[in-house]
Amino acid sequence: METITTIAELRAHTKAWRMRDEAIALVPTMGNLHDGHLKLVQHAKAIAPRVVVSIFVNPMQFAPNEDYESYPLTMGLDTEALMEADADVLFAPGISEVYPGGVKHTASVVVPGLNSMLEGEHRPSHFNGVTTVVAKLFNMVQPDIAVFGEKDYQQLLIVERMARDLNLPVRIEAVETVREEDGLAMSSRNNYLQVAERAIAPQLYQALLDVKALVEAGETDFQGVEHVAAQQLTEIGLAPDYVSIRRQSDLAPPTAGDTRLVVLAAVRIEATRLIDNVKISIT
Ligand code: PAJ
Repeated sequence: METITTIAELRAHTKAWRMRDEAIALVPTMGNLHDGHLKLVQHAKAIAPRVVVSIFVNPMQFAPNEDYESYPLTMGLDTEALMEADADVLFAPGISEVYPGGVKHTASVVVPGLNSMLEGEHRPSHFNGVTTVVAKLFNMVQPDIAVFGEKDYQQLLIVERMARDLNLPVRIEAVETVREEDGLAMSSRNNYLQVAERAIAPQLYQALLDVKALVEAGETDFQGVEHVAAQQLTEIGLAPDYVSIRRQSDLAPPTAGDTRLVVLAAVRIEATRLIDNVKISIT
């Protein structure tokens, strides 16, 4: 595996692959890799002969009060993990490579509607930062396939929408959420949790499973179910920003007859914010 930091060097590799008709899969990450990320890399390996994993902590998707400055950087361990996973290239560009005109005044990509609900309501400029950097990475790598995790369900949908709306020649592949044994979705931000906080964190997944069980058993008062789940989370010490049952396809509030739903939630434990989601199928 090669570690590359410039677009010029990256293009030399991808050009040679493309000349040999070797499909390229991209796995965008912000590093501090865990088994969730590595599952994405495995999936990429299974469907494409060439795999590029990017590591770039994107300042544009962090609000001033968020954890950009303290986001964990573990480049040495990440490099080892990606060598083990047999990625072809680790692309780790610097900030001026990604934002040649600076972060503040960059041209940007916006996916209206989806960018302002749920996570977007609590992190107003977050998704514009995500779509802008993902579009940039797509332009740099020009992948045939890009792999994203369902852990960030709204992000996955927004990236799919961006690719569709901008006619980008890339196929988006989704990978199921990888969890710890106790159900907590793996996340770089789990490292922030104190021991007592880590002990209650799996209750988030449990609450989402309870919502799923109720709705799949025929409960139709979605607002009531959301309200009870939010109350239970609050009592445990997981302060919810939202618990919301939505349509899988577009995250709109469900209407009668919708069968493919997803319950999404964000909670705060002291300084740490966790998100998770679980799909629901009504038969
Ligand atoms: P990051 O949080 O590092 O996640 C990179 C990718 O790994 C995303 O597609 C995310 O959904 C996936 N992922 C994270 N935890 C996972 C888990 N437990 N199971 C399965 N997949 C998981 O998401 C970002 O970075 C950034 O927003 C990025 C897309 C790289 C743009 O900067």
